[in-house]
Amino acid sequence: MPFLLETEALSKSFGGIAALRDVTLRAAAGGIFGVVGENGAGKSTLMNLLAGVFPPDAGRMLIDGAPYLPSGPADSVRRGVALVHQELNLFPNLTIAENLFLTAWPGRGAARRLTRNLLASLDLNLPPDTLVENLSAGERQLVEIAKALHQQARIVIFDEPTTSLTGTEAGRLHDIIRRLAERGAAVLYVSHDLSSVLRLADQLLVLRDGQAAGGGPASEFTEERLIALLVGRPIAALYPERTGQPRAEPVFEARGLSHPSILEDVSFTLHRGEIVGLAGLMGSGRSELARILFGIDSCARGEVLLEGRFIERLAPRERVRAGMAYITESRREDGLLMPAGVAQNLALVFPRSARPAEIARAVQLRCANLDRQPVAELSGGNQQKVALGKWLAATPKVMILDEPTRGIDVGARLEIYRIIHGLADGGTALLVISSEIEELIGICDRIIVMRRGALAGEFHRHGYNRESILERAL
Ligand SMILES: Nc1ncnc2c1ncn2[C@@H]1O[C@H](COP(=O)(O)OP(=O)(O)OP(=O)(O)O)[C@@H](O)[C@H]1O
Ligand SMILES: [Mg+2]
Repeated sequence: MPFLLETEALSKSFGGIAALRDVTLRAAAGGIFGVVGENGAGKSTLMNLLAGVFPPDAGRMLIDGAPYLPSGPADSVRRGVALVHQELNLFPNLTIAENLFLTAWPGRGAARRLTRNLLASLDLNLPPDTLVENLSAGERQLVEIAKALHQQARIVIFDEPTTSLTGTEAGRLHDIIRRLAERGAAVLYVSHDLSSVLRLADQLLVLRDGQAAGGGPASEFTEERLIALLVGRPIAALYPERTGQPRAEPVFEARGLSHPSILEDVSFTLHRGEIVGLAGLMGSGRSELARILFGIDSCARGEVLLEGRFIERLAPRERVRAGMAYITESRREDGLLMPAGVAQNLALVFPRSARPAEIARAVQLRCANLDRQPVAELSGGNQQKVALGKWLAATPKVMILDEPTRGIDVGARLEIYRIIHGLADGGTALLVISSEIEELIGICDRIIVMRRGALAGEFHRHGYNRESILERAL
């Protein structure tokens, strides 16, 4: 019996640079095929070829043993291929139902009913008429997934689907993926979360520099072996050793922050050189708190102090001048000049002090040319690195980082953790928001936990316990 999906020596170049070279894979019906690799390794390129976004330069694709060359994305949908993109492709000013049935509107009543069923299958209880712009990043991602599911595809491709989801939602997504496979679909799953890939997938493909660096049954791999293959060398530890120490001096303080249905009496202090992790589930109010701390959203009650000075009335720009930095959760939306060059983007926030080449090296940026390559042409993870890197050019007094390593490969993560440690050693107080408790445990001096807008627990470096932290968050 032929494989449901095959590629034979598939190749694709952009402007003379090979993004994918001679990649061959065979995905069986009912199987989950994991694809991993560093940022820029060619994962999205491969998935885009399969979904008809662009044609290959060489090689073939086959479905059920017959040649498959979609004329475009719509054609690939007709052939039973669905792609859940790394970048969200929803229209914010349309409702969930309108987004789901954009191409084949079944009438308002039917659209609403079908939408409600689809959302329920994802445990997402939102009215079908909700505007997408009113959804959180995680909810949007689930809607994007609902969109792929309703097409009843036989080949379902997930290109980093969990990047906006927290642990629980990611777990839910994994259940959905398993169900799809049980139903007989071939699932392709791209992720930087290697432990989840190892748990889910039965077959693996490791891409490096656009080529297959290894692969085979997932049972033959450990996380260490996978990392060594995809980075090209073994990595001793996922987290750098924390050599510095926080100091006693308070730098930044939140006092009794409350806002109806968002925050409830949130108080905490960050000290000079301290790295504090903020844990919590999607919707617990972590990102909302960050926006309030930075002055983007207002807060009904409470005070914010920077070095003893009340700053809650200052605009974000004034807070930056006072020594604050804030790296948002939706970095791409919040501040890259897509048509502009990489170097120009890296110098956006601190034009005088930024040294683009240095930052690019530090975050292991992969690009053809720092000055001439537009950011729009970089892979998803490399865009994230630029968005993060532009903030790393100065040493602020306080830095808030919301999901700093989202979408970033394992090797570059280590460098980003080193930069975070370095900033702390230089005196910066850092608040790191992350959905990965392991990451917070790996790099933070202290972890505070949020639940339903209130602080629900605090843990210190020597008393970390993953289960107790989770327990507080739930
Ligand atoms: N439209 C494009 N124009 C020019 N170069 C591109 C284009 N799309 C991708 N590339 C290049 O192709 C290479 C592979 O990119 P791809 O998006 O496939 O990487 P990826 O493995 O998905 O990485 P990530 O983990 O960062 O998402 C990169 O060097 C990227 O810059
Ligand atoms: Mg990608």
